[in-house]
Amino acid sequence: MENYCIKDINLAEKGKKNISYSIKELPVLTKIKERFEAEKPLVGIKVGMALHITTETAYLVDVLVAGGAEVAICSCNPLSSQDDSCAYLASKGIKCFGYKGETKEDYYKFIENVIKFKPHITIDDGCDLVNMLHEKYPELIANVIGGAEETTTGIQRLQAMQKAGALKYPMIATNDNFTKHMFDNHYGTGQSAIDGIIRASNILIAGKTFVVVGYGDCGKGVAKRAQGLGARVIVTEIDANPALQAVLDGHRVMKFCDAAKEGDIFLTVTGNKHVIPAEFAKTMRDGAILANAGHFDNEIDINGLKELATEMEEVRPLFMRYRINDRDIFVAGEGRLVNLACAEGHPSSVLDMSFAGQALAVEFLVKNKGKLEVGVINLPKELDYKIAEMKLQTLGIELDQLTKEQLEYLNSWQEGT
Ligand SMILES: NC(=O)c1ccc[n+]([C@@H]2O[C@H](COP(=O)([O-])OP(=O)(O)OC[C@H]3O[C@@H](n4cnc5c(N)ncnc54)[C@H](O)[C@@H]3O)[C@@H](O)[C@H]2O)c1
Repeated sequence: MENYCIKDINLAEKGKKNISYSIKELPVLTKIKERFEAEKPLVGIKVGMALHITTETAYLVDVLVAGGAEVAICSCNPLSSQDDSCAYLASKGIKCFGYKGETKEDYYKFIENVIKFKPHITIDDGCDLVNMLHEKYPELIANVIGGAEETTTGIQRLQAMQKAGALKYPMIATNDNFTKHMFDNHYGTGQSAIDGIIRASNILIAGKTFVVVGYGDCGKGVAKRAQGLGARVIVTEIDANPALQAVLDGHRVMKFCDAAKEGDIFLTVTGNKHVIPAEFAKTMRDGAILANAGHFDNEIDINGLKELATEMEEVRPLFMRYRINDRDIFVAGEGRLVNLACAEGHPSSVLDMSFAGQALAVEFLVKNKGKLEVGVINLPKELDYKIAEMKLQTLGIELDQLTKEQLEYLNSWQEGT
């Protein structure tokens, strides 16, 4: 098997520079790297990864290698690879398969390359790696100790596999770490999805009507930031609880068919399919912008838009104009994760915690080889909490300690008014 398939190995120096710059925002991962260097907990372990290959991911690979692991990596999205990060990894001898703008054929071939590396641990973002391993290479599962999953959509797919009796090894739901979804999904997607829309369109957010489809961890973060930039936010939901929270957060909540007529900018963050059906484009305002930050590119019905359009052109990089019903409707990043397709993904500081969770998950899986139940499991709470403690320490923030009296009070039931 070839050792790497990337765009240009000459970009390695640029990738290295980006990592050097980002390291100051990655102090928790750096602490883990130093410990891994000393303890070498991953010697003899092959880690197969399908993650967005960005600066921070390249640093996560460095951390795992410092622990003694051998790594092969491919992307988990055809548009999200940063070519300089891929070059950096390839130049260090890592099996790296990815480039920005992969064909569908290459995308799946690269996942297959990682599987053929026969990993003991899989790290996935969206479950495509685990899925292909189970469907096409079940004979390699005996080799696997366990895996870790980065995102909400991947967890949903794993849970569906588990329900169907199809999942054959322990999978840690790294996404569900408090230190992951609270910071990465909320603050990370909140900022970077808007960054992606701005970079793609160069539009002013202030004064616009910004429709957020899905008010989960990501949607709440996006809505808050859009509001902060001066947009009027409308939320559409299918679940009463987040819908109610959106109302109390000061947003208007309505059905999508009504929001379609009012919005200037639409962002989907649901993990669900066709939440913007193409037919609603006919009722949208001239100049409406559609973008997605959910994991897969099926949240906006792009094929439906193509069928309805009388004209189509790329007016700016990864920014398409569709002429529908005598109006221009724009789509950013082909409907793929707009923060990675049109910007650089989350800022390093939040990925510091997400990827600390991944590094600790790999170590935990190795330490507990053969002892964990098959299925979707959580990283122990103490490890998740440790990440928060380490992050606070690196920020120089100290906490109060419970007094003996308070501790006793909290564990008692006799004392009342
Ligand atoms: N872009 C990124 O970098 C990034 C980061 C983290 C997560 N994600 C992805 O973003 C998506 C959302 O993640 P999350 O953690 O916010 O999930 P979540 O489960 O917390 O929230 C999703 C919300 O969407 C709502 N929803 C579902 N179908 C809907 C519909 N038809 N109309 C309106 N609302 C609907 C759900 O009720 C829920 O409240 C997932 O695909 C996840 O993998 C992307």
